[in-house]
Amino acid sequence: MVAAGLLVLSLFSFALGKPLTLSSERLVVRSQVDVPTGFSYQRKATAEQTLNLRIALTQSNITGLESALYDVSNPTSENYGHHLTKAEVEAMVAPSAETVSKVAAWLGKNNITAQTISPAGDWLSISVPVAQANTLLNAQFEEYTWDKTNKTVIRTLAYSIPETLQEHLQFIYPATQFIPPVERHTPAFEIVDLPRKSKRTRSKRAAVPALCAKQITPDCLQALYNIPTTPASATGNSLGVSGFIEEIANKDDLADFLAATRPDAPDGTFTAVSVDGGITSGAGTVEATLDIQYTVGLATNVPTTFISVGENNKDGDLGGFLDIINALLAEDAPPLVLTTSFGFNEASFASQPDLAVNLCTAYGQLGARGTTILFASGDGGVSGSQSSTACDGAAFVPTFPSGCPFLTSVGSTQGIAPEVAADFSSGGFSNIFARPAYQDDAVAAYLSQLGNTNAGLFQTKGRAFPDVSTQGVQFVVEIGGQAQGVSGTSASSPTFASVVALLNDELLNAGKSPLGFLNPLIYSSGSAAAFNDITSGSNPGCGTDGFPALTGWDPVTGFGTPDFAKLLTLVTGSAAAGAGDATTAAAASTAAATSTAAATGRKHRNKAQAHASH
Ligand SMILES: *[C@@H]1O[C@H](CO)[C@@H](O)[C@H](O)[C@H]1NC(C)=O
Ligand SMILES: *[C@@H]1O[C@H](CO)[C@@H](O)[C@H](O)[C@H]1NC(C)=O
Ligand SMILES: *[C@@H]1O[C@H](CO)[C@@H](O)[C@H](O)[C@H]1NC(C)=O
Repeated sequence: MVAAGLLVLSLFSFALGKPLTLSSERLVVRSQVDVPTGFSYQRKATAEQTLNLRIALTQSNITGLESALYDVSNPTSENYGHHLTKAEVEAMVAPSAETVSKVAAWLGKNNITAQTISPAGDWLSISVPVAQANTLLNAQFEEYTWDKTNKTVIRTLAYSIPETLQEHLQFIYPATQFIPPVERHTPAFEIVDLPRKSKRTRSKRAAVPALCAKQITPDCLQALYNIPTTPASATGNSLGVSGFIEEIANKDDLADFLAATRPDAPDGTFTAVSVDGGITSGAGTVEATLDIQYTVGLATNVPTTFISVGENNKDGDLGGFLDIINALLAEDAPPLVLTTSFGFNEASFASQPDLAVNLCTAYGQLGARGTTILFASGDGGVSGSQSSTACDGAAFVPTFPSGCPFLTSVGSTQGIAPEVAADFSSGGFSNIFARPAYQDDAVAAYLSQLGNTNAGLFQTKGRAFPDVSTQGVQFVVEIGGQAQGVSGTSASSPTFASVVALLNDELLNAGKSPLGFLNPLIYSSGSAAAFNDITSGSNPGCGTDGFPALTGWDPVTGFGTPDFAKLLTLVTGSAAAGAGDATTAAAASTAAATSTAAATGRKHRNKAQAHASH
């Protein structure tokens, strides 16, 4: 994927520095950066301070992984739905024996022992004092702060490794990467009334309630998108919700919310698990509450896990982004759907894209195993993750991970008749990842309708996002006895995740594979009809009107909002063609928890692994 997916080669990484003569070996400079705006130099890091550095080793068969991912995800392939096993994925991602031994020999010579922190062995971790790291890497680790919050990070502006390791060691993190902390995608909320539904009036699918024009509750989404209210029943079904930065959902809040909005299904719950010491109980926070209330509240009876990622990774959010994925990759049966409402501006990764590429590949690994990865597209229109004037008069700001081609990005809409694009819905074109073939036709059709609008402000050959959308304005949530209305693509990703989880339920009950990586299916011919095309609204930013929502796919709402009934027809048809006898995934699903006790045991083992790795 590195070779095929990389659009813009960094000017900095791989820039050859002058040969250094610290040791007898020639060293090559891997990265050299300027301190980005927003970070300030403080002082040299103290020599004794311990650094926890991760080492990304060269993965042995990334092109093989990419073709395998497409082979099992493309509905026209005879292998559609025949997802890979954990071992098959690991075999392609694992570093070669030569890579492992050369890197170990280098560390050993310096009296450093590495721990392996990913199941495929492609990530190592070392703990070394600053002084030793400076010598080992010919670096100068220093303290910087992120001005907005005064959060301290320790970074170096350059580091070097022996030339003999150049093809074996991809990069070290954290070293030269200056990436602002992750941002929640929840721009606004206000206090509202929690509407109480009567159980009697909810027995059948009805017209969209009038109140849905002002605020969204689960019944609005069920009516708008034909989402079934009947409880899911398949063995092995599952839905995961990521949480970062001390976000947590509260079970009493969920019970109150369901009692009011889902009197037909008031008993929904979730399991909270911890990665990196993330908290698993406490007063609910807005983002996690939204994500849980619109997964448990819509994906009726689908076993749902909240994965709370803490800050024990010592380096904030990106360490957490790596750890949650490695924790899920270590599971025998990771969630079949994973929704994440956190993200970054891609620009922070652009000068050294290897970290973004590595994470993107990790999402591809889970996709190849049959997990659907969903990310909220961001809430700043074309100005990025959050609304910003910093790009006024300059190029648009795509978000990450939405620009990764191996996941599904979810934007937002609002209004009922007609349903239109929400103006905050981030969308656009990646500057790191090239446009994948599956979206060539859809994006070319949009670009020809767009004409010269915004010419020069975006990379027309980049991976375009979002792929789909749902409502995203004024979602009613219940927090600490108080109802609030919350808006953002944060609301949309969990909603779409629930649709996918309920589709999986039908597929699993029919003995078929879960959906896995969705995009080749979504972009395949005939699939667009399963979405409500959104054709008005736009996502302004950077001093422009942004992109207009137009007929067909657009970089504000993707193909539009889901119609569950039509999607079900589409996916059962596709699944029948390829994976009627799905073996691997069905076996994995059966091996998955058949009882809460088993699920809890599995998650706890996973937690122990995550802790043990630090
Ligand atoms: C890489 O993976 C592909 C499967 O997609 C396989 O066909 C190929 O043999 C593998 N190559 C190597 C060098 O292992
Ligand atoms: C490694 O440890 C040995 C034994 O303690 C010592 O002699 C040697 O100098 C150390 N090497 C480095 C590079 O620190
Ligand atoms: C950061 O630290 C400086 C100096 O100590 C202080 O003036 C400033 O208010 C702090 N900013 C924040 C956001 O805490």
